[in-house]
Amino acid sequence: MKRKINLLFAALTLAVISVSAQHTLPKLNYAYGDLEPFIDSVTMRIHYANHHGAYVKNLNDALAKYPELKTKSIADLLKGFIELPADIKTVVRNNGGGHYNHTFFWSIITSPAKSKISQALNDTITK
Ligand SMILES: [Fe+2]
Repeated sequence: MKRKINLLFAALTLAVISVSAQHTLPKLNYAYGDLEPFIDSVTMRIHYANHHGAYVKNLNDALAKYPELKTKSIADLLKGFIELPADIKTVVRNNGGGHYNHTFFWSIITSPAKSKISQALNDTITK
């Protein structure tokens, strides 16, 4: 019985490691509609779920046959682009680049209600 539990634990651990090695969509710190009226919720959903989601899926699909690359961060994959296998370079460049750019974009925007712009900057922009 103890051996079966140990085997089950080992299998679950491998499953968690395998899943965690996949690239994933970052969690947004706002709802799609929170950026209105500047960015509408439909545009946010298209860029997050459709565009970014496709980049992540295509990147993971490309890395599937290279287990040694699955644990690398997107930044490390792009920094080491020259050393990638030739058959996945274009996919990693296009989809990994899209994943990186979108992740950066989501992290620098916020809802107008949570914006912490200084009054001086606000006045300068308005002027
Ligand atoms: Fe997009």
